Amino acid sequence: MCFKGRLKVVVVVMVVVTSTLTSAQQDNLQAIECPFPEGQEVSSEEECHKYTACQWTEGRCHMTDDRHGGYLVGITEETPRGYRVNLEKANDKVTMFGGDVTQLVFEVIYHESYHLQVKIYDLAQARYEVPTPLYLPESPDEEHLYDVGVQPEGEPFNFNVTRKSTGTTVFRSMGPLTFEDQFIQLHTWLCSTYLYGLGENTHLSFRHKFNPRSTFPIFARDQPVGTTPMNEYGHHPYYMVMEDDDGNSHSVFLYNSNAMEYSTYQLEDNTPALTLRTIGGIIDLHFFLGPFPEDLTIQYTNMVGTPAFPPYWSLGFQLSRWGYNSTQGVREARERMKIMGIPQDVQTCDIDYMYRHRDFTYDPDNWGDLPELIQELHNDKLKVTLILDPALVIDFDNYPPSSRGKDSDVFIKWSDINLVPDDQDPAADNYMVGYVWPDNKTVFPDFLKPETQTWWNNEIKLFHDMLDFDAIWIDMNEPANFGTNLEKPWNWPPDEPAWSLKCPDNKWDNPPYPTMMIRVGDNQSKKISDHTICMSGNQTDGDKVYLHYNVHSLYGWSETVATYNALKEVFPDKRPVVLSRSTFPGSGQFAVHWLGDNSAEWSQMRMSIIGMLEFTMFGLPMVGADICGYFNEPDMEMCARWMELGSFYPFSRNHNAQDTGAQDPAAWPEVAEISRYTLNIRYCTSLLPQFSSHKGVAHMHGHSVVRPLLSVFPEDLAGRDVDDQFMWGDGLMVAPVLTQGATEREVYFPQALWYNLVTGEKTASGPATITVEAPLEVIPLYIKGGRILPNQVPALNTVDSRQNPLGLTVALDGNKTASGDLFWDSGDGEHHMSTMYMSKMAYYQDELTTRIMHGEDTVAGLYIDNIDIYGFPQDPRDINVNNVTIPTEDWNFVADRQVLSITLHAPLGESLNIKILYDESP
Ligand code: NOJ
Repeated sequence: MCFKGRLKVVVVVMVVVTSTLTSAQQDNLQAIECPFPEGQEVSSEEECHKYTACQWTEGRCHMTDDRHGGYLVGITEETPRGYRVNLEKANDKVTMFGGDVTQLVFEVIYHESYHLQVKIYDLAQARYEVPTPLYLPESPDEEHLYDVGVQPEGEPFNFNVTRKSTGTTVFRSMGPLTFEDQFIQLHTWLCSTYLYGLGENTHLSFRHKFNPRSTFPIFARDQPVGTTPMNEYGHHPYYMVMEDDDGNSHSVFLYNSNAMEYSTYQLEDNTPALTLRTIGGIIDLHFFLGPFPEDLTIQYTNMVGTPAFPPYWSLGFQLSRWGYNSTQGVREARERMKIMGIPQDVQTCDIDYMYRHRDFTYDPDNWGDLPELIQELHNDKLKVTLILDPALVIDFDNYPPSSRGKDSDVFIKWSDINLVPDDQDPAADNYMVGYVWPDNKTVFPDFLKPETQTWWNNEIKLFHDMLDFDAIWIDMNEPANFGTNLEKPWNWPPDEPAWSLKCPDNKWDNPPYPTMMIRVGDNQSKKISDHTICMSGNQTDGDKVYLHYNVHSLYGWSETVATYNALKEVFPDKRPVVLSRSTFPGSGQFAVHWLGDNSAEWSQMRMSIIGMLEFTMFGLPMVGADICGYFNEPDMEMCARWMELGSFYPFSRNHNAQDTGAQDPAAWPEVAEISRYTLNIRYCTSLLPQFSSHKGVAHMHGHSVVRPLLSVFPEDLAGRDVDDQFMWGDGLMVAPVLTQGATEREVYFPQALWYNLVTGEKTASGPATITVEAPLEVIPLYIKGGRILPNQVPALNTVDSRQNPLGLTVALDGNKTASGDLFWDSGDGEHHMSTMYMSKMAYYQDELTTRIMHGEDTVAGLYIDNIDIYGFPQDPRDINVNNVTIPTEDWNFVADRQVLSITLHAPLGESLNIKILYDESP
């Protein structure tokens, strides 16, 4: 399926490739479409001829060949970490939108053996480059898994990256490279159609499709979840391709924060292809060679930053809604949860707690006893999350957060004083003024600025002095602005003269190619500033000045960093929890993410799995969707099924919009019962201890937590298309019911023995597709033979559940062996290797042993009270626990299910050995 060694490769500087394209290759180039600002719908010969880089052939407008439109290879120079090649525009007269950079540098930079960086930038002058930190090695590894090839001097430029061990060309640029001031375009052949990632978009399938062509924009945007290609809240230009049947995989990160888009399509010969387009910055590609999908997540997150280690309580169930409307509303929902005995660890309050939607305030009428409510929740062992929005109201006389912000000069300004609207209130200085939730115009902090960090720390500290919250939810941080370029925002006060933020008609706010984002989703003004602030704003990190045009998609990231740092000051001994809507590569170090404003629709429940798997790839494993849907109202069945699924979201929160009916799990008796059951499984059947272990490992090493089947079974071709099932770690498979009215579903079991997690029955010997029973109260859950998962008796919150006895579920594989590990720490605060408990468990030849690596004292008072062995052959004669034979009433063997359950009371901090003896081999 892949190209094998089509280009000849040498180790340092690559050369070779025939310079003239074969007619087949020429035909292929016709598939590289010429992008029109207004979309392909306007495609005509006349329109096509407006762009000299385009050619009209047989009713199609496509890019010309690379000798005509692209760059020619110049001299090569070695550098300490690789080499540079000069590129020269082949023909000055050929352009898409003008502003062509005539001399470029193609630079190859070697990092780790699995990691290669390729940059293409302007030789003559520095352009914008993304300022977020990357963690790169100080010196490159000597051996590399890859080779890089470039055309010989004088030839049209193209390059390729090859996996040395297999000869597979993993990236092979094709056609002409376009590098203009505001339009950069690169095309590559792909070595297979197993393409995943890129976002934040709603994808209908985890695996991308190539036919028909589809184009998705990427640019942070206040855009609810949709079913057609549109850019949503975050910006993640990162994809993975599985190359071959062995599971060899690579990933590519385009480190660029400008508005961009990607197209997946097929060439004339059906080869899959990908086009990447961005309207600023440079081409900065990072290639990771894995070789397996899980390696890629580790390699990528080690470069952009491994995920934050969440406090244990944040793994518990969280309840939220917009529209409790009063402390009474929260109390009623909380009371329902208590009466129905549903586990809950976090209560969240949305903007309705605020006074006139102003951050750092609370409404004295309906929320006047919010401090007392928070105290009550704390007494109940719950944590409290409060929302903040970045847009602050302009009321410099009466609203201290804004006036202090003004004094510290933290708000985003217009890049040119002449752009300040004539009607701007002089008090608003030359700030960029918008309108969001508060009942007056707003300004927007520049979170890149060091002064903003200081001011934000202070505001959050004062806020915490007033309200004893535990976590902060930062919303609307694309940043969202209502009514930009329109007559007035939708929520503008009816008695005020119409007004809105109007962006200027200049090259930043009206770029020549605004990407597909202006043609999709809710973009009424058909501008890239729609729903946000103008691109002509200035921001600074104190060192460089940046146009908002360039750093727009970093807004959420920068607010996340600032909020994380502020929380670190408020809670120096705790792990900060910041829930952010907008994210950028690296956000996972500081943030938890939810998938934004979805709807109570079965299709959106299903797609939430895809979003969750993608964010895992993006290095934000603590992710989930609004359970039971944000907009619209779910019925009992949908909410029950969604609570089942949401019980296995890493970030498990039920949340809905203002003016919708109650949909908390206790709102229907049936949903309450089902939620209690499935959340108990989350809290108990290993899941929190196991999940916490995965999070710990994710934090330390970059592993993922929730995984697609392809990460655990990379060689399983059928598993690569599965996106309605997922794994927790590599031992537990979740197969939720996602169809209305269904009481059974087909489950795909990759190669392994699989047991029903709850009953211990052997369900499948994979690979197999089996229809399993799943009446409304059942979510199919399977443990893979060969894994040992810890579990803990559940409780109504994690404060209590963490004190409870633990157990082990040992699922035997075909060789009657199994292994696992358990990680445990204080659950909050700095984690130290020295105090972290870590044990390894192995089952082999009828003997279970646990080996403690370190941290015995951390688990003082915790005991293992039961062990269930699934797939056990027969009733034992004797069982010895640490060399002492236990009474027969301390075990139970269920022959028809082949489940052996042993009761004991063994300190978790001490090594354990269990020997099982039986009369004869079964
Ligand atoms: C938009 C968020 O996405 C949503 O979750 C929240 O309820 C509203 N803003 C109101 O704050």
